[in-house]
Amino acid sequence: MSTILQHAGVRIYDWLTIPYNWLTLMFGLGIIAVLTFGTLGLSRQSKKLEQKNAEIARLYETIQYSLQQTEDEYRRIEMILESVPAGVCVIEAESGKVVIANRNAGTLFGHALTAGTMVPILSEAYTLCQPSGEPYPLSELPLGKAVLGGISSVTDDVTLVRPDGEKINLLMGAAPISSGDDQATQQIVLVFQDITEKVKLEQQLQHYTERLELEVRKRTSELEQTERELRSSYEQLKQTQERLIEHERLSAIGKMSATIAHEIRNPLSALHAAAQELKEGLTLPEEYRELLDIIMSQSTRLSKIIQNTLSFTRPISLEKTEVDIHHLIDRLLTSLRSDSRFQSAIQVSKRFAPEMPPITIDPDAIEQVLWNILLNAVQAIRHNNGQVQISTNWLPQGQNGLSSPCMEIVVADNGVGIQPAQLSKIFEPFHTTKAQGTGLGLAVARRIIEAHGGIIKAESQLNRGTNMRIFLPANTGNLTN
Ligand SMILES: Nc1ncnc2c1ncn2[C@@H]1O[C@H](COP(=O)(O)OP(=O)(O)OP(=O)(O)O)[C@@H](O)[C@H]1O
Ligand SMILES: [Mg+2]
Repeated sequence: MSTILQHAGVRIYDWLTIPYNWLTLMFGLGIIAVLTFGTLGLSRQSKKLEQKNAEIARLYETIQYSLQQTEDEYRRIEMILESVPAGVCVIEAESGKVVIANRNAGTLFGHALTAGTMVPILSEAYTLCQPSGEPYPLSELPLGKAVLGGISSVTDDVTLVRPDGEKINLLMGAAPISSGDDQATQQIVLVFQDITEKVKLEQQLQHYTERLELEVRKRTSELEQTERELRSSYEQLKQTQERLIEHERLSAIGKMSATIAHEIRNPLSALHAAAQELKEGLTLPEEYRELLDIIMSQSTRLSKIIQNTLSFTRPISLEKTEVDIHHLIDRLLTSLRSDSRFQSAIQVSKRFAPEMPPITIDPDAIEQVLWNILLNAVQAIRHNNGQVQISTNWLPQGQNGLSSPCMEIVVADNGVGIQPAQLSKIFEPFHTTKAQGTGLGLAVARRIIEAHGGIIKAESQLNRGTNMRIFLPANTGNLTN
């Protein structure tokens, strides 16, 4: 106020002492009026200011309250984050920098993840590998899928290799957080969990399961082996029993046939000789000559039957000696080619094992076996392209239950073959499909081979041919049956 009056050039003292100066009065009144109105205006302004102040104070309180609430909310989220039993971390999608992370996320990397720093899995110090050990392409990791495709995903086959080389199996999940109008991914929430222990336990479990399976398989195969052995023992027992029965039967037949043979043989030879003499001495019409031929051939057949029956029923007595089997076969083939029953159109070939040690056998008996088989082969061929092959093999590991090294002799023909139903019967005595056959050829062969401790088998396909296989153990022992 004094400043204003001084400015107007009037001092208070002058103003009080010159009351009649109207100009001064008017001026004074004017000043008073201005001051009065000014004071009134100021008090109005001050009221408004007070109102504004109160408003600001209210606003301040509201903001303070909101801030408090936000802070509480933030702490609550922090608490939730900290209580999650996994590493949780929110990062900027573009820069890979941490926005927020819980303590568990830091534990994995050995230091706390502070906001604004690069998330460690993206730094070069850490490597993320696939189960194969190859580095994981970022685009196939949940993080890459979230950033590039906006896709949430989880995987449990990630291995984190720390800077010190330690490997940690991770379960990793990532989800995009989008905001704004364009819904573009701005942040990514990453979740990791150390599943090393779980993976180890699973691997151990897998290992134990595999061991258990192996053990079960081993036990099963042992049991199967035992079962096979039992079966084979049972089969052997059955065969021995059958052979014993057959032996008994044959010895009875043997005794009887020896008597019959003795009684029949002489009259038969007399019959044969008489028929021959009649044929040579008389001039007879052709039909009578044919009848005499029948008498002669049938009496020969009867003699053969008697001969075979006798040799079949008699006990076998083997005279073993060391033999070169290839030599024996060569000799046999020469006599086969000169036999009247051999058809010259048949091609006979041999395929011998390059090395064949000598074998201890009864050469006459084995020759008889091979002769019977070769003759059957030749008789089974009814076409022009007949082929018979005899081959040998040396089997050092044994075969068909014969444990020691053994020799295999195979006679293969491309003849008529044998009906499957007949195949099991061909080794039985007196089984024949031939008009002139005695059905003893193979029965005798089997007896001789078994007396040597060997095996004889037949494989056949109708109209394709037959393979007769003989297995002789190298050590045939000194058996005499
Ligand atoms: N290689 C073969 N091809 C086709 N069938 C065969 C062959 N070998 C044997 N067989 C069949 O087995 C049967 C029995 O043969 P086995 O040698 O024991 O007697 P056989 O030949 O009939 O008479 P035998 O030998 O006394 O003259 C034969 O009749 C024949 O049916
Ligand atoms: Mg025969």
